[in-house]
Amino acid sequence: MKRLVSGMQPSGQLHIGNYLGAIKNWLQLQEQYECVFGMYDLHAMTEGLAPEALKKNVLETAMDYLASGIDPQKSTLMVQSWVPEHTYLAWIFNTLTPVSWLERVPTYKDKSQQFAKNINMGLLDYPVLMAVDILLYKAVVVPVGEDQTAHIELTREIARTFNSRYGETFPEPKMISGPGARIMSLVDPTVKMSKSKGPNHYIALNDSPEIIKKKLASAVTDTGNDGKEPKRPGVANLFQLLNLFSKVETREKFETTYHKKTIRYAEVKATLAEDISSHFADFRNRRADLEKHPDKVLDILREGSAHAQTIARATLKEVKEKVGLL
Ligand code: AMP
Ligand code: TRP
Repeated sequence: MKRLVSGMQPSGQLHIGNYLGAIKNWLQLQEQYECVFGMYDLHAMTEGLAPEALKKNVLETAMDYLASGIDPQKSTLMVQSWVPEHTYLAWIFNTLTPVSWLERVPTYKDKSQQFAKNINMGLLDYPVLMAVDILLYKAVVVPVGEDQTAHIELTREIARTFNSRYGETFPEPKMISGPGARIMSLVDPTVKMSKSKGPNHYIALNDSPEIIKKKLASAVTDTGNDGKEPKRPGVANLFQLLNLFSKVETREKFETTYHKKTIRYAEVKATLAEDISSHFADFRNRRADLEKHPDKVLDILREGSAHAQTIARATLKEVKEKVGLL
């Protein structure tokens, strides 16, 4: 089976955007590829997380992956910092990567604005470490969102540079983007749903039905544009959610009332709250179970990371021999 690598920075609980944009895809891919899913805690450190948060987020993210259906019998779940070969190879890749490549990466420019008071070396070097996450496992495919395009391109360039200087070692991985629903924030529907802006902006996978109802009730919609196309962002976002979580008839009913200008957004939101809640009912049960047994989750991560390390060690040994360190 061909190998696939993907993962996220552990940022606490995942939201429905993460689920629809990434995890749902992974569930299918884990049937077709040998998957390594990472919790990239060393990457998360570039954003200056508090120590307690860093540790807690790894566990929370792992529970979300598992409750979503990532199956540790089929896929490897690893924690980046538990496999120190990542930082070792990152140093070697650093010596091959021109600073100018990194300064050009759009996410670096964005993050330097977002974290203006903490533009640390890690932010600049982020893509090199990400290249390691992928190449250490000689992955051939990487499912990520469009915002990661530059990172994957850089990974390919690093692989090419290494191969041409030291001999064929790394395959050039391909990026695959899923059907990729882009879910927008409930409070500001012109930006994508993310955790960084505050809890009312997103619906966490683990939110209770009451909280989902409350968050949707205060979601931004619009008045005065009913019946017109294109819909305003907040309304379009609700319709996108109807499309993803509700029955076709339900969406069509609201489509009709929208065009007749008789739509009541309170009704749309209440319906959506119910449909989203029931969609994640099994998830919440499995998540609650896992929360009772954090040791089991840690065991899965330990086992996964140990397995990842056997692959990582072999690659690093090969690299060290080729570059003259062994
Ligand atoms: P992030 O937490 O932004 O690093 O994203 C982790 C993964 O979730 C990436 O693969 C993103 O493409 C996906 N993702 C994050 N936010 C959204 C969103 N609002 N809609 C769809 N996918 C998202
Ligand atoms: N940069 C990715 C993101 O923000 C997270 C990430 C780190 C990653 N290392 C990776 C994704 C390796 C895929 C493969 O979403």
